[in-house]
Amino acid sequence: MLMQNRHLLGLEGVSNDEIQLILDTASSFKTVLERPIPKVPTLRGKTVVNLFFEPSTRTRISFELAEKRISADSVNFTTSGSSVLKGETLKDTAKNIEAMKINFVVIRHAAAGAPHFLARCLDASIVNAGDGTHEHPTQALLDLMTLKERFGKLRGLKVAIVGDIAHSRVARSNIHGLKTVGAHVGICGPATLIPRDVEKFGVTVYPKLNDAISDANVLLVLRIQLERQKKGMFPSLREYRSLWGITRERLEQCKRDVVIMHPGPINRGVELDSDVADSGFSVILNQVTNGVAVRMAILYLLAGGRAKPEGEDHD
Ligand code: CP
Repeated sequence: MLMQNRHLLGLEGVSNDEIQLILDTASSFKTVLERPIPKVPTLRGKTVVNLFFEPSTRTRISFELAEKRISADSVNFTTSGSSVLKGETLKDTAKNIEAMKINFVVIRHAAAGAPHFLARCLDASIVNAGDGTHEHPTQALLDLMTLKERFGKLRGLKVAIVGDIAHSRVARSNIHGLKTVGAHVGICGPATLIPRDVEKFGVTVYPKLNDAISDANVLLVLRIQLERQKKGMFPSLREYRSLWGITRERLEQCKRDVVIMHPGPINRGVELDSDVADSGFSVILNQVTNGVAVRMAILYLLAGGRAKPEGEDHD
């Protein structure tokens, strides 16, 4: 099986078969990462440009490592030090970089739709590494991989997404991905941070946190974007924690085998307490580890790679 699209712009519209293909391929690449020399020549001769117009630690380093592990040549772009500071447009920036003969663009940008715009302007394959409040598909895929590893299945899992749903690209991609694979999604957070058009997502909205978390297999805790407080969307960090924070006391209301996820960076002591984030219930660092394998798989599949029969290698 091949990917239907040569871009990965979001998880909306990506089929269950394609998601399973990505997850299976990522599991296979994860075995490469566990070798003494964690590198295969899969994408030798291909060039990837990582265009990061917004800050990132996990996604940027994870893409860079993924590219090195599959032997692609990679180049990193950040706004600081670039001609964007002289007023160069996104289109001109991307077209000029493409003129240097590249095959993939990984883009993070504050504007929702920036990856879709590049997909229309360029011949290169585009991978969305987070666009505004729209989508962050590779984050959701690494979350799905982590859950599949933990539970052995995705269908039927009950996942509660807690926090700022309205502004979260992680929430949006996870909602699309989780629903496609047959999980049940509940959302919960301050009324000001629930999307106005929430019914179109086809998820259960829980007004009370205890109702959302008590029956969930998984709590996906979102980062509170601190600038939202300045805009009056919640009164104070202390009040946020007392109403919506995942504390040790709240963890005790959950199932005994509940799994705690967070995309990072964590506001410790606000949306998630340290003694929960660092507990045995947390798979937060497993998520980060799986990010490299997922991004190797995505680049491989978008380059036209196929599913490998069981036991066959990516060499
Ligand atoms: N999860 C995530 O996107 O983290 P970064 O912003 O550090 O890339």
